[in-house]
Amino acid sequence: MSNAKGIKLVDLDEEGVNRAFRADVLAGLRQEPKAIPARWLYDDAGSQLFEEITQLPEYYPTRAETQILESLGNEFADRIGPGRAVVEFGSGSSVKTPLLLDAIAPSAYVPLDISGDFLRAAAKDLSGKFPGLPVHPVEADFMRQVELPSEIADLPKLGFFPGSTIGNMVPRTAVDLLRTMRATLGEGALLLIGMDLIKSEDILKAAYDDAQGVTAEFNLNLARRINRELDGTIPVEKLRHEARWEDHYARIEMHLVAEEALEFSVSGVTFELAAGESIHTENSHKFDRRSANTLLLAGGWTPIARWLDLEERFSLILAEASIPRSAP
Ligand code: AVJ
Repeated sequence: MSNAKGIKLVDLDEEGVNRAFRADVLAGLRQEPKAIPARWLYDDAGSQLFEEITQLPEYYPTRAETQILESLGNEFADRIGPGRAVVEFGSGSSVKTPLLLDAIAPSAYVPLDISGDFLRAAAKDLSGKFPGLPVHPVEADFMRQVELPSEIADLPKLGFFPGSTIGNMVPRTAVDLLRTMRATLGEGALLLIGMDLIKSEDILKAAYDDAQGVTAEFNLNLARRINRELDGTIPVEKLRHEARWEDHYARIEMHLVAEEALEFSVSGVTFELAAGESIHTENSHKFDRRSANTLLLAGGWTPIARWLDLEERFSLILAEASIPRSAP
């Protein structure tokens, strides 16, 4: 946005995001080891690159999850039943949502996203595909408890959280989010959640370090974004993308590794990276049946069904809101 003199006017939203980005980046670079929250990977360029990642031969999660939704529609219908209001946490631009809605005859669709633009696009897209279905978008941060639209207050709810986005969070944050979802959706709710499975290190590492270098670009874009938006001087060409499997945590980590000792500044603050030192930019936790169940139970959800793709790479888990009762 610019005024008549061509001076850039920043709207309040943009300014708020920019301030939060700066605070996270400065705090993360001061810390040892250096780390920046993964959510900052998704500016316009980053979101575009992630879309490209989902098409890569090595990146199986999107295809695997879509295959489950395509092939097991009847089982979803049986387990979930008709008439639920589907609340999607983080309304993607995805092909997955229509597959779910087609399978279960829902009573309403509530996309929930922090980005108003994404939200309106997703809502419009869905309304077009499901003309009779009431759509009630909610612009909110799903990491906090949300008050759902009054129109769906009395309808049974189904939370939908695909993509193994839960895997981006360390367990204590994941549990906080699951409990928040439980509070948002209330008693009697169901949750359908995608969780990527632990598998051979070769397959995992290839999925996060593809031959075409798209994931590398996705990761490096964070450094470029810092340079663009926070007046940074990071020499991006001296950083190398790395995907590591950390078996102890059962997660893939993305890092930006300095190929030589570097000095740069961000918003006027100077930082150093030693040769070989890295900035940790993402965690992607992987699960087996038991670790997935434990995480869900800790978050107030009781797993009741689980579906895998044919090659058993990815899981979709259905859980019901646990009822607090005394237990030994
Ligand atoms: C969108 C968070 C599920 O962790 O697999 C893809 C993001 N990062 N390649 C994932 C991602 C690198 C993706 N999630």
